[in-house]
Amino acid sequence: MDQATHLRRIIKGESDKIIEFKNTNQNGTFSTPNTPRVFAVTSGKGGVGKTNIVGNLAIAFQRMGKRVLIFDADLGLANIDIIFGLNPVHNIDEVIRGEKDLSQIIVKGPEGVSVIPACSGVQELANLTEGHKINLLNEFDNLNRMFDILLIDTGAGISSNVIYFNLAAQERIIVLTPEPTSITDAYALLKVMFYKHGTKHFILLINMAGNDKQARSVYENLTKVADKFLGGISLDYSGYIPKDDFFVKAVSKREPILCSYPKAPSCKHFNQLADYLLHQTNRRPVDGNIKFLWKRLIGQTAG
Ligand SMILES: Nc1ncnc2c1ncn2[C@@H]1O[C@H](COP(=O)(O)OP(=O)(O)O)[C@@H](O)[C@H]1O
Ligand SMILES: [Mg+2]
Repeated sequence: MDQATHLRRIIKGESDKIIEFKNTNQNGTFSTPNTPRVFAVTSGKGGVGKTNIVGNLAIAFQRMGKRVLIFDADLGLANIDIIFGLNPVHNIDEVIRGEKDLSQIIVKGPEGVSVIPACSGVQELANLTEGHKINLLNEFDNLNRMFDILLIDTGAGISSNVIYFNLAAQERIIVLTPEPTSITDAYALLKVMFYKHGTKHFILLINMAGNDKQARSVYENLTKVADKFLGGISLDYSGYIPKDDFFVKAVSKREPILCSYPKAPSCKHFNQLADYLLHQTNRRPVDGNIKFLWKRLIGQTAG
């Protein structure tokens, strides 16, 4: 049984328990500070801007008074450390081995955003010993009190690692650009998540768009195909981030664009995106919290 299948079983098996922990108001939106939102930011194709989006979205949320934790689950090279100017020396492997507490490996990025740095261990979370799982869960329990939002930078594609994080998160933001290969790869990811794992709800974000019209047409084209071949899927349009030359300048300064070039054209789109994600009215009540994410990730069903 592969990790994703295993995970799906766990999620199904736990659904009753998860409902007990739902903490939504009448509109289905979260109201209490102790119920963090968990978003996986993902894509079919690499290089579409996920890491820059995670970094800037985190800053936008933090400026709205939210306490944000980023989990870098992408083992690729250009990770969140680069755009946040961080040089982390510890990682989650050390927490799993019981050598460090989570608080000792979480690093602070710009404007107080917290980061769990990337490491090879994220690929092995499902295969931990029971003792290690309990270590990790106890550690992550505290995060529910410490953070309002967890953003996971998942990496790209349909590899089991990417799917794994997408299944465990409450909400999935699929990033794509107007480039045809990015659209077809996004569709491939939707198809795998929908057919193989039964995931129906996705949030789409178009990056590097020329304008609103182009972004909407990318969204509409993908929606048309999905409606035809993936009946029952629901794709929400969360807006777009324009193609913006200031990204190159910001990355070379190792700073998020919201910090280094606040007047750049894309900045207001990040603020709008954060606002949309916090206040979207058609949100389904979502299950779980950060501890549940970890339970699903590491296959721990007890407690
Ligand atoms: N809206 C944008 N406009 C222009 N360049 C962008 C935009 N978003 C991202 N980029 C650039 O695209 C490249 C890939 O971005 P990155 O965030 O590393 O993608 P991913 O994490 O999906 O691989 C980076 O050089 C980044 O500066
Ligand atoms: Mg990346």
